[in-house]
Amino acid sequence: MLTWMDSLKGRSMMRLTSFTDEEMMNLIDLAAQLKARRAAGVRGNLLARKNIALIFEKSSTRTRNSTLIAVRDEGGNGEYLTRPDIHFGKKESVKDTARVLGRIYDGILFRGFRQADCEDLAKYSGVPVWNGLTDDYHPTQIFADFLTVRETFGDLKDCTIAYVGDGRNNVANSLMMGCAKCGIRYVCCCPKELHPDEAVLAEAEAVAKRNGVDIRVFNDPQKGVRGANVLYTDVWVSMGEEAKTAERIRLLRPYQINMDLMRATGNLDGRLMFLHCLPAFHDFNTEVTKDCGALEVTDEVFESKYSKVFDESENRMHTIKALLVSALCDRASV
Ligand code: CP
Ligand code: NVA
Repeated sequence: MLTWMDSLKGRSMMRLTSFTDEEMMNLIDLAAQLKARRAAGVRGNLLARKNIALIFEKSSTRTRNSTLIAVRDEGGNGEYLTRPDIHFGKKESVKDTARVLGRIYDGILFRGFRQADCEDLAKYSGVPVWNGLTDDYHPTQIFADFLTVRETFGDLKDCTIAYVGDGRNNVANSLMMGCAKCGIRYVCCCPKELHPDEAVLAEAEAVAKRNGVDIRVFNDPQKGVRGANVLYTDVWVSMGEEAKTAERIRLLRPYQINMDLMRATGNLDGRLMFLHCLPAFHDFNTEVTKDCGALEVTDEVFESKYSKVFDESENRMHTIKALLVSALCDRASV
């Protein structure tokens, strides 16, 4: 039987702080249950006749497909809407688009630039809105990351995640808060120019303290990763920041995750994994890396036994499904 907390009904997710720590853990549990259920061949009707709008201002492979298939698996319908498809913010204010789509759809998943637009959609649509990535946060990603850690290590207890790279991007911000909420030690290894934003850091530190863990920031990645169980990285240049590519490569070259850095954890023979939200620049096979090869992670690490990136990727679907089901399914146990 699937169960989830009644309090999740009708809820939006702007950031991980939209949920209590207990609700966050409950959603990860539900995702694991939904994953097992799908593996057993069940395609249910938990989202029957529910219509979900996917407003995407930025590209996506995982988030888009995870959401569409999660909805379809459970008998609902998803509609993919990009900027050229709708008037969003161009011929019509975000507020007006929200009020229109809220009359038509049961929920909205938004991927875009401004966090404020995501919040306006939630404020004015009257239906649950989920943040599928903004410039500031990427909360749905973290549910998939933690489900992957839990599957690999058995639980989230006594775990240290070291994030290496752009310490102030959307993924890093959400990962830091997710660790704080779930009682995972978080280490950020980044150059001083890319330190976490002070306010975002302070907010996460308060939550981490409440849960008995700490957050540490290192400029020296070799020192920072010592004792880590998870090495995590993301692209050095997030969508919308392409003009900063040359500067980022210069700043972040010393922060590449390679086997030397994996070894520096001291856990090569113990509890250790590599995670990356993807897409990843790990080889010559992309337009960006065809001449320069790997950036944030070497192919050796990406293809190693430590790498759980495709489990992580698959888990986007099960965790997004958990969010949608808990918010939209009429019963809190089925
Ligand atoms: N990790 C992630 O959000 O991937 P996409 O950009 O492909 O959705
Ligand atoms: N930080 C990256 C995450 C991609 C999933 C970006 O915003 O492009």
